[in-house]
Amino acid sequence: MALLESKRAEPTVCHISAEPELIHVDCVSHIYPDGSLGIHNLCFKVQEKEIVAVCGGNGSGKSTLLEHLNGLLSPSDGCVSVFGKRLDAQTKKSLWKDVGIVFQRAEDQLFAPTVLDDVMFGPLNMGMNIEDAKQVAFESLKAVGAEELVNKMPNYLSGGQKRLVSMAGVLAMKPKIMALDEPTSDLDPNHAEIIEKIILELKNKYGISVVIATHDLDLAAQIADRICIVKSGSIIAEGTPAEIFYNSELLEEAGLKKPKIVQIYDEFCKSRGLERKNRPVTVVELAKCFTCE
Ligand SMILES: Nc1ncnc2c1ncn2[C@@H]1O[C@H](COP(=O)(O)OP(=O)(O)O)[C@@H](O)[C@H]1O
Ligand SMILES: [Mg+2]
Repeated sequence: MALLESKRAEPTVCHISAEPELIHVDCVSHIYPDGSLGIHNLCFKVQEKEIVAVCGGNGSGKSTLLEHLNGLLSPSDGCVSVFGKRLDAQTKKSLWKDVGIVFQRAEDQLFAPTVLDDVMFGPLNMGMNIEDAKQVAFESLKAVGAEELVNKMPNYLSGGQKRLVSMAGVLAMKPKIMALDEPTSDLDPNHAEIIEKIILELKNKYGISVVIATHDLDLAAQIADRICIVKSGSIIAEGTPAEIFYNSELLEEAGLKKPKIVQIYDEFCKSRGLERKNRPVTVVELAKCFTCE
């Protein structure tokens, strides 16, 4: 695990990994027009076929970072590289084709009169003809289990349905990276579980790398390969879910609560006077510990 100091005067020195990098954000600072500091001294990468969770409390910089991934925002000082090439004004314009964002508020995403129109919008915008765009839209809605919503009006959908349609709209553009901002916020447990399964499928079935910004550490523990903890606009730690979620001091510093699985395992070991031999983070891993302890 790389533990980084949260408030450095010097720009971040990026760790160069051997894994192929799809995108690399090296942001010395992003300053909003009103002078607010969004993120700073922050280095973030997305590799092939991984799920990265960016975890932090409210206002820690998660959404600001996500919007740097598809060119909605750019570093005030710093740079973004895609497939090893530094973005310029021209290449930035087409970044939305490779990196799709599912916004936290569906109202920021869905705008067309029907679900079909909405999901077809991206493919049409990429130059596809109407018949092909329709076909892709149907396939994408099917992939998220929302094909029956095809003729509905987005405005009248439930929060969970809106989230699914938003995901279909991004999937229809066949992106290399999908970034989801608080994907399970305001959803009932059933819809949250559906979204969790779809995110895993995006990686395993479609080969898409996924970035989730979330304060839901239970979700991150279940599905992420890598965790980045953000605080006050910077990444203060990065590692596997086991490395991050069994570091109580770190979570406390970031103002986050341990995932439920970690709480249960800690309590299990404490109540039986057992040493913590394992570091389960998923339900399956926890169940294995109960049978072998
Ligand atoms: N449009 C904006 N204008 C000014 N400040 C903003 C804007 N959006 C976010 N910020 C500020 O940037 C910081 C990071 O916000 P944000 O990225 O939204 O955090 P998070 O998604 O983790 O809640 C906060 O201090 C927030 O107030
Ligand atoms: Mg946010």
